[in-house]
Amino acid sequence: MINNDGFSEPVYVTEPLLPDLAETYSMLEIIWQSRQLSNNGKMVQELERKLAAFLGTRYLSVFANGTNALQIACKTLDLSGEVITTPFTFAATANALAWNHLTPVFCDIEEATFNIDADRIESLITNKTTAILPVHVFGHPCEVEKIDRIAARHNLKVLYDGAHAFGVKIKDKPVGSYGDITMFSFHATKIFHTVEGGALIFRDQDLQQKAKCLRNFGLKEDYSVDEPGINGKLNELQAAVGILLLKEVEAEIAQRKYLTNLYRQVLADVPGITVSQEAEEITANYPYFVIRVDPTAYGISRDELYSRLLSFNIFCRKYFYPLCSNFKCFKGLPSSSADNLPTANKVAESVLALPLHGRMSASDVQKIGGIIREIKIKNKKQINEIFN
Ligand SMILES: Cc1ncc(COP(=O)(O)O)c(C=O)c1O
Repeated sequence: MINNDGFSEPVYVTEPLLPDLAETYSMLEIIWQSRQLSNNGKMVQELERKLAAFLGTRYLSVFANGTNALQIACKTLDLSGEVITTPFTFAATANALAWNHLTPVFCDIEEATFNIDADRIESLITNKTTAILPVHVFGHPCEVEKIDRIAARHNLKVLYDGAHAFGVKIKDKPVGSYGDITMFSFHATKIFHTVEGGALIFRDQDLQQKAKCLRNFGLKEDYSVDEPGINGKLNELQAAVGILLLKEVEAEIAQRKYLTNLYRQVLADVPGITVSQEAEEITANYPYFVIRVDPTAYGISRDELYSRLLSFNIFCRKYFYPLCSNFKCFKGLPSSSADNLPTANKVAESVLALPLHGRMSASDVQKIGGIIREIKIKNKKQINEIFN
C-alpha cells in the first residue's frame, strides 16, 4: 500500500515569485505621479539599466513577451529562407519563425543535455539557410562555441532562445554574450519575470537600435516608417514588478538549487528514474527539475506516472512533449520526419518536469520523491504478484 497520502492542496509545477505588496504600492504611486504608463517610460529605462548590469551586457532591451522578442529578433537580423532549430522546445520558438515566413529545419538533440546536437547542424545547411536558432533548454547552455564557429564558417546568424537561461554563465561568461542576439522570457512562470515580458541581448548597438525601432511600430524620429514594426513595448507597471523582483532573484535561484540537490538525492537510486546532474563550469539557474522515466526499469510509463501523481495532487508537466516537429502545422516539413529526429522523439516520450519553485520546502520535495519511489515499489510488488 502506498502510505503517503499526497498533498491536501495542489502542488503545481511552478508558482510565480511575487513582489512585496507594500513595495509594489510604492512603485505604483511613483508611476501614478509620473502619469506615464507606457512608451519607454522611467520604469522601463531603469529596468533595462538594472538588467543589463545584472546580466553583464551593454545592449539589452525589454519587450512585451519572449515570443514577440523572438519575432522582432528575426526581423532585426533580416532572416529569410530556412532556419535550423530544435524540435525539443516550447511552441513559441518554431512559431516565431513561421510568423516571419521562415521555414524551421529541425535538428536532432543530444540525449545528455536535450539541446540541439551541434554536430548535426552542418549537414542541414542548404543555400537557403540564413540562421541557427538554438535553445538553451531548461537553462543548460548549448555548445555555444561550436555553434558560433559553424555560423562563422557558413556566414549564418545565430539567435539563441534563452527563455530559460536567465543569469546562466559559462565559465563565468554570461550566456547572452554568444551569438548575434539572445532572447530571455520574463513570463510569470520564469525565475525572473515581469508578469509577461522578455528581453533581447544584442551583439552590438546597431542591432539594438534596429530592434528598438521595430518594437515601436518601426517609427523613426520623424514619425515615418521604413520597415514595418510592431508593438512590442513593455509597460511601466510590469517594469516596476521586474525592478522589485530583480532584488529577489538570487534568493529564488539559491532555494531552487537547494531543492534541486535534494530531489537528486531523494531520487538517486530509484530504478528507471534518471535525474540531471550539476554541469561543470556552468553557473546554473535551476528553472525546472526534469526527470526521465524508463518504463521498463520503473515499471510504468511517463504518462502513467504523470496521472498517478495527479491523484496525489502533484501537477507535473510533460515538458517538452509533443515535439514541435509533431505539431500539425510543422509535421509536413521534410526535417520533421521521425528518422531525422530519433533522439528528440525518444526524449520527448520520457521527460517529466516535477514541481520546483522557491516557495516549496524541503519536506515538499522529500514527499514528492517518496511518492515516486513508492509508486515504483508498489508497482514492483504488483508485477511480482502477477508472475509468481
Ligand atoms: C523555450 C521557450 N521559448 C520561448 C518562450 C516564449 O516566451 P513568452 O512566454 O515570454 O512569450 C518560452 C515560454 O515559456 C519558452 O519556454
